[in-house]
Amino acid sequence: MERPICSLFARWPDDPISRSPDYASMNAMQTTRVLIADDLPDVLEALRLLLKGEGYATESATSPAGILAALEVQDFDLVLMDLNFARDTTSGQEGLDLLRRLQAIDSTLPVVVMTAWGSVKVAVEAMRRGARDFIQKPWDNARLLAILRTQIELSRALRLGLRLEAENRLLRAEGRPTLIAESPAMRPVLELASRVGPSDANVLITGEHGTGKEVVAQTLHALSGRAAKPMVTVNAGGLSEGVFESELFGHVKGAFTDAKMDRVGRFELADGGTLFLDEIANVPINLQAKLLRVLETGQMERVGSSKTRRVDARVLSATNADVLQEVQAGRFREDLLFRLNTIEIHIPPLRERREDIPLLANYFLWRYAERYRKSLTAFEGAAIQFLLDYAWPGNVRELEHAVERAVLMAQGNAVRPSDFGLRTEREGGSRLEELSLEEVECLLIKKAVARYAGNVSQAASALGLSRSGLYRRLRKYGL
Ligand SMILES: Nc1ncnc2c1ncn2[C@@H]1O[C@H](COP(=O)(O)OP(=O)(O)OP(=O)(O)O)[C@@H](O)[C@H]1O
Ligand SMILES: [Mg+2]
Repeated sequence: MERPICSLFARWPDDPISRSPDYASMNAMQTTRVLIADDLPDVLEALRLLLKGEGYATESATSPAGILAALEVQDFDLVLMDLNFARDTTSGQEGLDLLRRLQAIDSTLPVVVMTAWGSVKVAVEAMRRGARDFIQKPWDNARLLAILRTQIELSRALRLGLRLEAENRLLRAEGRPTLIAESPAMRPVLELASRVGPSDANVLITGEHGTGKEVVAQTLHALSGRAAKPMVTVNAGGLSEGVFESELFGHVKGAFTDAKMDRVGRFELADGGTLFLDEIANVPINLQAKLLRVLETGQMERVGSSKTRRVDARVLSATNADVLQEVQAGRFREDLLFRLNTIEIHIPPLRERREDIPLLANYFLWRYAERYRKSLTAFEGAAIQFLLDYAWPGNVRELEHAVERAVLMAQGNAVRPSDFGLRTEREGGSRLEELSLEEVECLLIKKAVARYAGNVSQAASALGLSRSGLYRRLRKYGL
């Protein structure tokens, strides 16, 4: 199976990659080089003097072969050439043939052709074959210089544009999400991701907190034809119904008291790209009908507006709740679920794929050592064993935070078990009275989340918290 999405040491997107183009070298400071070609020495000399007076550096050629040879040796900003060479002095055929070859060598190199007075037909044919402009002999100096200047500037802009575009493509490729998954338990995830990623199918991603649902969503987006467009995320957890509705659909000025101006919603922002609906089980029931309508018809209105807009967004969604149970409890519309879960990808918890722990830990070590400029290169054997033995109720996110902490704490070249700042169950239990209030709260939250297999609603009610209250704390403790 193809596995481009599982690259261990891909560059991390927020690495300080220098991306400013080298404007200095592309701008006016450098000499502008023009290749002039004609079989008549007098013409060459006249052009050389004219161009030299304008600050151009020139080289000359007297035949098509000479032009090709000169291009092999150095780069030019423009080629000014006659179409008629000695062998065939009237039809311009030799010059026309050459234009195609020049195009093939470098399509950004501007070529201006010189034709005999009155031979407009040949000039038109030359333009059709890639010449940028033409000038008729005998030429008018001012007009010739104006044409050269324009063409050189245009091609500089074109070359710079192409370079920036290539650079962006590269950056996007480097910024691809890193999905580490080598364990047998993750094989179905990778297989499904590579199969449905490129399609427009709506995918529901399920799994406990911190298992990597967002990473999988980013991977699906990166694999799709929409990758050049943005993936826009909207989180349904912890937002009030009104706020969420205007997040999703936008609003017009005056739609409600605080609506001081028009606002574009996430659906419209994701047009042509992907919309990632996170914590989908928390979408208020009243909004579920509106969401369903956009998914079915591709049509929506901003809050307070009657104007219908079309949006084309692929919808990926994620949840750590048992949505079927939510459907049975009447809190989630079944028809909406069937729209969202055309394909369902379930990500197993980290405790069911321990083979991935060393890989993930090493990846995070590499990343954070670079970020914090520490010369850490490895884990002590006991440290890896510690990670393998730990329960990871907060899954990959908890592992990531533990390694980040260890990178900051470690003193030598290798991470030791105590650097993680994690307590084993036994230790934690026996020393409860030694913990701070915050540490106890964090411990209780971890336990509740693990007990309810990552279901935030259930864990929140067991802890006597509102769902958004629990979310706040999960964020606070980095869980
Ligand atoms: N397979 C993986 N490879 C590399 N990094 C991962 C992997 N899985 C998770 N991570 C990292 O772990 C952290 C948590 O992942 P992510 O946010 O995708 O989890 P989640 O399932 O969306 O969590 P939540 O339910 O809390 O929103 C992120 O920093 C992510 O980069
Ligand atoms: Mg998430």
